[in-house]
Amino acid sequence: MKYMTGNELREAYLQFFSEKKGHLRLPSFSLIPQDDPTLLLIGAGMAPLKPFFTGKMKPPRTRVTTSQRCVRTGDIENVGRTARHQTYFEMLGNFSFGDYFKGEAISWAWEFLTEVIELPKDKLWVTVYPDDTEAIEIWKSQPGFPQDHIVKLDDNFWEIGPGPCGPDSEIYIDLGEERGCGSPTCGVGCDCDRYLEIWNLVFTQYDRTEDGQYKPLAHKNIDTGCGLERLASVVQNKRTNFETDLLYPIIEYASKVSGVKYGEDAQKDISLKVIADHARSMAIMIMDGILPSNEGRGYVLRRILRRAIRHGRMLGIKDKFLEGAVDAVVEIYREASDFGELVAKQDYIKKVISIEEDRFAATRNQGMELLDGEIKELKAAGKK
Ligand code: GLY
Repeated sequence: MKYMTGNELREAYLQFFSEKKGHLRLPSFSLIPQDDPTLLLIGAGMAPLKPFFTGKMKPPRTRVTTSQRCVRTGDIENVGRTARHQTYFEMLGNFSFGDYFKGEAISWAWEFLTEVIELPKDKLWVTVYPDDTEAIEIWKSQPGFPQDHIVKLDDNFWEIGPGPCGPDSEIYIDLGEERGCGSPTCGVGCDCDRYLEIWNLVFTQYDRTEDGQYKPLAHKNIDTGCGLERLASVVQNKRTNFETDLLYPIIEYASKVSGVKYGEDAQKDISLKVIADHARSMAIMIMDGILPSNEGRGYVLRRILRRAIRHGRMLGIKDKFLEGAVDAVVEIYREASDFGELVAKQDYIKKVISIEEDRFAATRNQGMELLDGEIKELKAAGKK
């Protein structure tokens, strides 16, 4: 296995698909969906490409590769509590719009994982949709594929809201018995940390309509999703995504300002991880033109920002601290090809965050005054 920085890993993936496999390399699309009222924010690599899958628009090439910035907040309460939950992540993807299908998607994923980044073949496992004998045969014909490492799973079907979707095949890596739960039934699909899903190949055949029907698409497509931070945790041999070079510098910053060391107190580690995750989300949302507000995307941003401040308070940070977190975020991406805008807008992002931090402090102070007043009145009346 090769050690790679997060930025090197992204580059290796995009170069493999563009230079070796004929894909058009496109920069990440904005987090703000264009002409898609079904989504508040882009939450998957394929989301901005939906019109190419459905045939509504002609793609610039039938093979495209991207590293798409994504925000998902459905599981925000889990961030910091698990090894993998994040609100912001990057999804590496290779896409076919009526061009190649299962054979190429499977064999190129295998080639990238085992030859480019040199993951050990005997540690890789795959899941397939139970009826998908074609995918099973293709997997079995890959060079050095461990023939018994295939599991059939009923829920191997991928969709995100209305739009293109289909059966999928997921690739897992076995991180070792010591990372497992020890249960005799522990295996691929177990909730513990042993088997980590690193890549999902979706055989996009349907278009789910707003009223829940699955309409066959005119051509078969490929949509894939490979989480950059997850894969980085594998090649960097880190227990969680937060310890990779894509997040850890922000933990170090929060640790320095708060004087709280990472790894000594599980509760405080949660706050350090929340700050690291939320700092990336807020910086990149603002980079894409979102501003804190009380509705829609702006509200998502405001909530993330205020959660980060609250976790800073839980670590004992009394002063404003988020501008420094933005500097740490910018340093992570300074050398990355798609993030020139982040560097260019660094001062603007810090300004937006600084104003919001002041506003939140004022709201809190006002709230504290009201609360103090109420408490005084109750006490004066001899009540609790
Ligand atoms: N679009 C496939 C995935 O995100 O897993």
